[in-house]
Amino acid sequence: MIDFLGDWKRTSYCGMLTAEDIGKEVVLMGWAMRRRDHGGLIFVDLRDREGLAQIVFDPEIKAEAHRKAEGVRNEFVLAVKGKVAPRPEGTVNPSLKTGEVEIIVSECKILNRSKALPFTLDEHVDVAESIRLKYRYLDLRRPGLQKNLLLRSKVTEITREYLSKSGFVEVETPYLSKSTPEGARDFLVPSRITPGQFYALPQSPQLYKQILMVSGFDRYYQIVRCFRDEDLRADRQPEFTQIDCEMSFVDREDVISIMETLIARIFMEAKGVDVQCPMPRMTYSEAIRRFGVDNPDVRFGLELVELSEIVGSSGFKVFADVVASGGIVKGINAKGCAGLSRKEIDELTEFVKIYGAKGLAYVKMTADGWQSPIAKFFTENEIKSLNASFCAEEGDLLLFVADRPKVVNDSLGRLRNRLAQILKLTDDETYRFVWITDFPLLEWDEEEKRWVAVHHPFTAPMDEDIPYLDSDPGRCRAKAYDLVLNGNEIGGGSIRIHQEQIQSQMFRMLGISEEDARAKFGYLLDALEFGTPPHGGIAFGMDRLIMLMTGSESIREVIAFPKTQRGSCLMSEAPSEVDTKQLRDLGLRLTVK
Ligand code: AMO
Ligand code: AMP
Repeated sequence: MIDFLGDWKRTSYCGMLTAEDIGKEVVLMGWAMRRRDHGGLIFVDLRDREGLAQIVFDPEIKAEAHRKAEGVRNEFVLAVKGKVAPRPEGTVNPSLKTGEVEIIVSECKILNRSKALPFTLDEHVDVAESIRLKYRYLDLRRPGLQKNLLLRSKVTEITREYLSKSGFVEVETPYLSKSTPEGARDFLVPSRITPGQFYALPQSPQLYKQILMVSGFDRYYQIVRCFRDEDLRADRQPEFTQIDCEMSFVDREDVISIMETLIARIFMEAKGVDVQCPMPRMTYSEAIRRFGVDNPDVRFGLELVELSEIVGSSGFKVFADVVASGGIVKGINAKGCAGLSRKEIDELTEFVKIYGAKGLAYVKMTADGWQSPIAKFFTENEIKSLNASFCAEEGDLLLFVADRPKVVNDSLGRLRNRLAQILKLTDDETYRFVWITDFPLLEWDEEEKRWVAVHHPFTAPMDEDIPYLDSDPGRCRAKAYDLVLNGNEIGGGSIRIHQEQIQSQMFRMLGISEEDARAKFGYLLDALEFGTPPHGGIAFGMDRLIMLMTGSESIREVIAFPKTQRGSCLMSEAPSEVDTKQLRDLGLRLTVK
């Protein structure tokens, strides 16, 4: 028998009751968990989004409610009326917010039943992610995921409040738009009205927000979905959310200072974590030199050591040859790792090979000095200098990579993070921010044999580097900045090009013909000619931010309905086939079966 809600009104969330409520008559509504029968008394944990409350059915007090409770199973939806009472001595549960009280039920309604669940909602039981995603509505009942989404909602609330108080105007930009090049592949939407033509879902509102500056909105923001058809990883989804901002009449310092205050606010108000502003800064070249990557995790040391000068003239041909041909040799001192086995070192070698390294030379620092297959190639003086560079001590493991700078930095930079994992040097409760600035404007793409924009083609070069734009493009630095948190890029932005002729010059540098530029972003080029103010902005990856704030392993844990690594939604089974009629309407014919 299912009961009707009738005129019952909830008076409190289950998870909010405390000792202060003792004596109150309450009406609670929620889902039943863990019914326990104890010699006549029946206990049920009633759960809602705020937590659990223990409800007690005593046959001596209300026989009818007790009879109903006998039929209650996990995940039945209940409404109960009752009185908040202190738990008897010895049964207080200090690990629960409501652990000091229980509710003595006088009336109970079973509002709905539930089939037996395909998996238990117990947080401590591992359930295959594919099952969790198929039954996402059940998975989302788990307190962990609820907490993540509640925090996410809190973060959007703080963001809206801070930005609107700071004079930012929220403007919505189209999802059915023209391709904006952000470096990934576009998701396309066929047009029915003009068959053969396509909209692109925006990879970001980049061009629209710049155009809003041309229109005089001065400060814009949007919490906006972006779409990128790229290979997915734990920190990437095909659709994800940005906190997207743009401002007029500003320089880099203005953007950084307003935005770091936003981030500090978010951490203080949503997590009670005090983040110091101004946040530390590091130039791109310093980041690469010391950490090998442009998203350094600065929670730990293990910095890269430059060794080319010492080993360039050594008897170890591998190193000497690399240096002679313009490459470099760098290393990491894996503190206290001399005890790693041959197999473990082989694993690290395989790891650096993923990033193009040809090998990983190593030295174990023992009481008798160097123990290493390459020891014989070095003079005593060279060994001394290397030890000094590494600050090597007994028990350390010195690791070397020799190659082109990109390969050396990439592979050692990643190895550094891997070592920190192995050595357990990080914890999720420490938040270390760093702004990376002075990025190069352009990067030479070996495969395509052309320059590509490091951030995007609308990013301005540093004023003093403009003269090199044609003569020495690699030397130009950009007015771009990224915010990195614990080794994750959580946001990136730049001051934009606001002069049409520099924008055209930039497209030329990128090998984009005038024709192509006109076809793709003619509207931006036109707009730039009608009084464009200097402007710049940034976008934060909201999902990544929440992932880090909640200590989650994957951004799927902070998105209500995420896609799998293969880009599908296991609950709704998207993507899926469509009717031939739908295809016909769109003027499309499939070439794949
Ligand atoms: P960018 O491409 O750096 O810049 O993106 C900004 C931030 O968005 C997040 N992000 C992602 N999060 C989840 N899944 C993805 N696939 C994904 N891709 C990016 C990252 C990143 O730092 N229009 C520019 C911003 C600007 O210049 O103002 C832009 O989109 O955290
Ligand atoms: P080999 O002389 O090829 O037997 O290499 C001797 C050691 O140097 C091995 O531990 C290799 O992993 C390492 N090694 C080889 N090439 C490189 C390189 N480019 N950078 C760093 N170490 C290397």
